[in-house]
Amino acid sequence: MTSFRQIALVLLVLIGAPVAAALAQEASGVPLPAVPKAVKPAPDANHEQLMRSNHMSLLKHKRDLTVHEGDRTPQYSLNECVTCHAVTGGDGKAVTVADPQHFCRACHDYVAVKIDCFECHASRPGDEDKAAGLAAPGESAVAALSDYLQEVEQ
Ligand code: HEC
Ligand code: HEC
Ligand code: HEC
Repeated sequence: MTSFRQIALVLLVLIGAPVAAALAQEASGVPLPAVPKAVKPAPDANHEQLMRSNHMSLLKHKRDLTVHEGDRTPQYSLNECVTCHAVTGGDGKAVTVADPQHFCRACHDYVAVKIDCFECHASRPGDEDKAAGLAAPGESAVAALSDYLQEVEQ
């Protein structure tokens, strides 16, 4: 992590509450990211707090549970995230991650974080999920991915 990202992250943690106001505000002259509101109520009471600081590790943990142990329950599934956090664009449809309005880009663009997750996973509800497709034929792609994850995580 670059020092800029570290500073930006500390800033983001410090200003976490105002971020939730969903409007870009000026707090002591620092422009904040505008985080779009979810379309459904949160799944758990502590979801907002938990996700702000832990979504990165929860998502990766869930991915490992799915790929290594076949856990396909909805909790912490990426499809659930993009469904509840869908943002409607000008054409009345949910925007994809190509649009800077996308929920997952609100903070990431701000702190210069790049994720490759949506190269395989659908970034809006209803889109083809290449990850699910990879899993279908005899689970061989999932087995290969499991091997790969074990290698990179060592
Ligand atoms: C059932 C609906 C639902 C699901 C599923 C859901 N969320 Fe949320 N999430 C919410 C609500 C409601 C909030 C509170 C803020 C708001 O109203 O938008 C929230 C807040 C957040 C925040 C804090 C945003 C901020 O303003 O600081 C993050 C980050 C987040 N969610 C990430 C995720 C991730 C990652 C997933 C998938 C693992 C996920 N959420 C799944 C409804 C949901
Ligand atoms: C090369 C393609 C690929 C990339 C890139 C990728 N995944 Fe996955 N992911 C998969 C496959 C395949 C599965 C297994 C799907 C299944 O078995 O249902 C999976 C499963 C998951 C699951 C559990 C199932 C679900 O629907 O949520 C999570 C969570 C997940 N990945 C998160 C991530 C995150 C976070 C990133 C980015 C850091 C990421 N993935 C990047 C291919 C990918
Ligand atoms: C409230 C702000 C916020 C929102 C909204 C948000 N993120 Fe993040 N995310 C961050 C921050 C900050 C980091 C960098 C954390 C770090 O570098 O330690 C991060 C990092 C990540 C990482 C790890 C990247 C890496 O290089 O290891 C993943 C994966 C991730 N986010 C997934 C998502 C997904 C998927 C969504 C949308 C469902 C999302 N995030 C929405 C703030 C957010």
